[in-house]
Amino acid sequence: MRSLGNVLVTGGAGFIGSAMVRYLIQQSQSKVLNVDKLTYAGNKESLKAVADSPRYEFLQADICDIAAMEAAFERFKPQTMMHLAAESHVDRSIDGPAAFIQTNLMGTYCLLETARKFWSSLGESERDSFRFHHISTDEVYGSLGAEGYFLETTPYDPRSPYSASKAGSDHLVLAWFHTYGLPVIVTNCSNNYGPYHFPEKLIPLVILNALDRKELPIYGKGDNVRDWLYVEDHVRALELAVAQGQPGDSRRAVDDPRRAVDDPRRAVDDPRRAVDDPRRAVDDPRRAADDPRRAVDDPLLNKTAFLA
Ligand SMILES: NC(=O)c1ccc[n+]([C@@H]2O[C@H](COP(=O)([O-])OP(=O)(O)OC[C@H]3O[C@@H](n4cnc5c(N)ncnc54)[C@H](O)[C@@H]3O)[C@@H](O)[C@H]2O)c1
Repeated sequence: MRSLGNVLVTGGAGFIGSAMVRYLIQQSQSKVLNVDKLTYAGNKESLKAVADSPRYEFLQADICDIAAMEAAFERFKPQTMMHLAAESHVDRSIDGPAAFIQTNLMGTYCLLETARKFWSSLGESERDSFRFHHISTDEVYGSLGAEGYFLETTPYDPRSPYSASKAGSDHLVLAWFHTYGLPVIVTNCSNNYGPYHFPEKLIPLVILNALDRKELPIYGKGDNVRDWLYVEDHVRALELAVAQGQPGDSRRAVDDPRRAVDDPRRAVDDPRRAVDDPRRAVDDPRRAADDPRRAVDDPLLNKTAFLA
């Protein structure tokens, strides 16, 4: 397996990024530079287990600040970069798309240009070892019918400002591979759950509301289908993808897709038991374009492969 060397993680104070940083510090010998702007979604508490490690460093910066990114690359000299900084909440993208365009598109562009300049300055063997890993979402594929899974060959069909901005960023990353030869890896994962999940997301929201005996906000009739991926399984899949993937690879990162839940409430041990009148069908016009069914498959990164 390719060694990751120094790893520059963007968005490492976020939900998945912090799990990635904890995993790299606790399970590898890599040095990690965590570049994060600390928006509302950033939480340094999630990093307290590794904050004192001599192999860990935090830089508060905006990925759109190209001078700050160039200085960080020049000083830290990453062999691997894992790009998780993003605006990530669909509902927020409907209320205010500008930040999504700025961070997800312009921010990714700034990182690609910074990485390209840095990578071009390296010697041949260092250039071969360098990887730019872009972490994206299965939402770029839109929705499935009742059958099937998202595959590498599934056409993009984003439906929200969030998924459109992520789809655009995937295209930029792959264009930097095809045009400039920058060694990139793209992974498109399904919904994650686990420690330090921001409370506005479905599973923590449902748990907290259930504990407070409040209504449980489920969109529509509650019959949307999603895959749920445990975040600590996901970060192991990401390590595998960036260590073993070939430049230009685009992979799905999933749990076992045959275990796709047809009701997200089951993932939290049915909190309906905890409340009197739990079901509140949310008739929210913002969710008119919500995807009824998303389920992904990938022969490399399904659970049996990466946990074997
Ligand atoms: N959470 C999921 O279920 C899920 C599913 C599929 C894909 N993804 C993707 O995985 C990645 C990480 O998701 P997450 O849930 O950890 O996100 P998150 O919202 O929890 O964290 C995002 C992090 O990025 C930082 N950030 C935002 N804008 C920035 C900027 N301009 N410069 C620097 N840092 C900035 C925030 O401060 C935060 O720490 C995202 O690209 C997201 O699209 C997430």
